[in-house]
Amino acid sequence: MITQRRAQVALLKVQLILLIANLATAAVPGRYEALMKQQSTDEDMGLYSVEDKVFIMTSANFNETVLEQNRSVLVEFYNTYCGHCRRFAPIYKAVAEQLLPWRDVVLISAIDCAAEENNGVCRMYEVMGYPTMRYMGPGFQPGVKQYGQNLQTQNPDEIRSQLAKFVAAENQTATTNNSFWPNFQQVTDNDSASSLFEGLSSQREYIALVYEPENSTVAIETALFLLHWPAVQVRIVHDAATAEKFKIDTIQNKLALIDRKGNATPFAPSEETSDSYSKTIEDFLRAHHFTPRPELIETAHSTSSEKLNEFGAEHKKIIDEVHRNKHFVYQADLEQAIRTVLHNEVPKINEISGERLLALQRFLAVLQRYNPLGANGQELVAKLSSFVVQFNQQITGKQFEQELQRLEHQYSPIYSSTQFIGCAGSQQHYRGFSCSLWTLFHYMTVQAAQNDQSQDPLEVLQAMHGYIKGFFGCTDCAEHFQAMASRRKIWSVPSKEEAILWLWQAHNEVNQRLAGDSTEDPEFPKTQFPTRSSCAQCYRGPSSTTSHLDISWNKDAVLGFLNNIYNPEFISRYGLQREELLHATAEKLRQKRQIANVFSDIDMRMGMLLYGFCIVMMVIAFKLFAFKGYRKKPYGHDLLGKV
Ligand SMILES: Cc1cc2nc3c(=O)[nH]c(=O)nc-3n(C[C@H](O)[C@H](O)[C@H](O)COP(=O)(O)OP(=O)(O)OC[C@H]3O[C@@H](n4cnc5c(N)ncnc54)[C@H](O)[C@@H]3O)c2cc1C
Ligand SMILES: *[C@@H]1O[C@H](CO)[C@@H](O)[C@H](O)[C@H]1NC(C)=O
Ligand SMILES: *[C@@H]1O[C@H](CO)[C@@H](O)[C@H](O)[C@H]1NC(C)=O
Ligand SMILES: *[C@@H]1O[C@H](CO)[C@@H](O)[C@H](O)[C@H]1NC(C)=O
Ligand SMILES: *[C@@H]1O[C@H](CO)[C@@H](O)[C@H](O)[C@H]1NC(C)=O
Ligand SMILES: *[C@@H]1O[C@H](CO)[C@@H](O)[C@H](O)[C@H]1NC(C)=O
Ligand SMILES: *[C@@H]1O[C@H](CO)[C@@H](O)[C@H](O)[C@H]1NC(C)=O
Repeated sequence: MITQRRAQVALLKVQLILLIANLATAAVPGRYEALMKQQSTDEDMGLYSVEDKVFIMTSANFNETVLEQNRSVLVEFYNTYCGHCRRFAPIYKAVAEQLLPWRDVVLISAIDCAAEENNGVCRMYEVMGYPTMRYMGPGFQPGVKQYGQNLQTQNPDEIRSQLAKFVAAENQTATTNNSFWPNFQQVTDNDSASSLFEGLSSQREYIALVYEPENSTVAIETALFLLHWPAVQVRIVHDAATAEKFKIDTIQNKLALIDRKGNATPFAPSEETSDSYSKTIEDFLRAHHFTPRPELIETAHSTSSEKLNEFGAEHKKIIDEVHRNKHFVYQADLEQAIRTVLHNEVPKINEISGERLLALQRFLAVLQRYNPLGANGQELVAKLSSFVVQFNQQITGKQFEQELQRLEHQYSPIYSSTQFIGCAGSQQHYRGFSCSLWTLFHYMTVQAAQNDQSQDPLEVLQAMHGYIKGFFGCTDCAEHFQAMASRRKIWSVPSKEEAILWLWQAHNEVNQRLAGDSTEDPEFPKTQFPTRSSCAQCYRGPSSTTSHLDISWNKDAVLGFLNNIYNPEFISRYGLQREELLHATAEKLRQKRQIANVFSDIDMRMGMLLYGFCIVMMVIAFKLFAFKGYRKKPYGHDLLGKV
């Protein structure tokens, strides 16, 4: 009897230990909450780093940098996940580097609209496409329909000349408190060598006269490149007669330096570019022992060697996991897609009305039906959907954002994950949101086919089409997708199964177009999906075909494959921080083991400790139990028989 009770005590102890162990894992959400907070600022690091000459703008410094300043600002509004923005980033960096000498008059900056914290700014400035470059002059004040002037080009030379035009067109009285602002008033017939020096600081030893043909900005640019040379002031000559008076002409000697004595030195630069003009003048000044202001030398190179693109060991684990399971679909990615849609893409639109409003309502209705989130997330989307349905004229992004925040607060916690897994890139700026958005729409087409709630074969494709057109912040993607949708006759898809296959084929077309593109993650090359190694039976014929176009697909097998990988039972829960928010699945236990991989060392050590403790307790329990039992009852098998 005593031994039995002892056994019960030991069992109780083990249960207690398990309880403690559970409490320990329940402590993980603290870390999760911190990750959630950190995410919008930390993970979306943007396309520019401190090493670049692009000034990084956020909602925290936007007003103080742009509003009522004594200099102009060029702002690039971009989305980290937009392929076109990624391709443009190196060009913009080069522009910023080249125009660094202009900095006291015009600052080259960028703001990442994919970062949630910047929603307010991007919404207020009514950015319609990404990337968008806007010029805002000194003293700029936003107002109704006044959000700066758009630059209509992405060519570096044209950016430079458009910027120069904007700067030169500023009202001189608005720029008087910027001592660097050049004098853009053209030299006239009434000017003389001595009148040009009137009112100038004695440091100005020379006036550089630059002949500027009609529609050119060569003189304006030259003036901006020479801001930091106190010895010279650049002045613009437009008129041929005036040019002649100052010993320059419109054919060869388009440039002259006038000194305080009235002597003119003409130059014939090799090229008619501001680069060549300013080099010519700088060389002359250097030869005469003048120097630029020291600030320029300081700002020229403040290189910090820290590499921002590097990831920790935890990230490498994720990439390895994804490589091991090539065609897994991950819960984490589905959630990240929904999070970004709700937190960033929709709130970023200032006024959601007309076709866009309808698209939002459709998207939310479909998401509500085929929602991969847990019970709290189901509630959230359902409530959000019925909130948006009430509006039939328009809703503002801000209203949406506020309601979302209210509902998330009410139903929190919503998301079981804070990171990409299957859509994690090998480097900061690869993959991510656009990958997860594809994943979410594939998922929904498959759920729709396995579900009887709607008989409309087009419901998911229509929701997707509307979403991509109205909200997807990758503007060129949206344009491509619309063109492809009408070419591939999206509105004639006859069944839910065909909808799954339509999206699969459309996605493969995009993969093919982007194969080898600079936005392709070398660790995740764009191949036709599924690969032969994932699904041999999806291919008909021999493996010798090299061109993507030649692949003869077995569509039934592809459909089976997609139904399989998007089956909710098989969605991988690897890397989730709060799996308990989801419905239990048969896979749960297996996945739990994998989750242990991404726990921090502390979590692991805690687990090991508890495990060790457990074993010790069991040994003690067994000893007490078996030893005493042995003394009292000489027959061991009695004991066994009782248990
Ligand atoms: C609607 C849309 C249009 C886009 N258009 C452009 C564009 O015009 N230009 C541009 O630069 N970028 C475009 N993108 C982004 C681009 O397609 C990729 O999302 C991005 O380059 C990231 O690629 P990825 O390697 O992460 O894989 P993705 O292509 O994003 O794939 C996501 C996941 O789906 C799986 N998958 C791949 N192919 C298929 C398939 N055929 N069927 C089912 N599953 C598949 C993959 O295993 C992967 O894990 C678009 C994105 C979307 C959502
Ligand atoms: C920035 O200025 C705008 C008005 O121009 C204002 O609505 C907004 O609240 C300001 N933002 C911050 C962070 O001060
Ligand atoms: C420049 O600004 C001043 C004061 O703001 C104004 O009086 C003047 O008309 C402006 N000039 C031009 C050409 O716009
Ligand atoms: C001078 O610059 C300040 C900001 O530095 C600005 O507030 C002010 O309006 C400017 N003055 C004029 C006349 O533009
Ligand atoms: C612009 O104004 C600020 C404050 O008014 C001043 O500190 C700064 O030097 C000015 N910049 C230039 C280039 O004049
Ligand atoms: C030159 O000066 C005269 C008289 O002062 C004036 O009438 C004329 O408009 C001026 N010309 C230019 C181009 O400014
Ligand atoms: C300058 O631009 C205007 C308007 O774009 C155009 O009409 C004119 O012909 C151009 N002049 C020259 C010399 O190119």
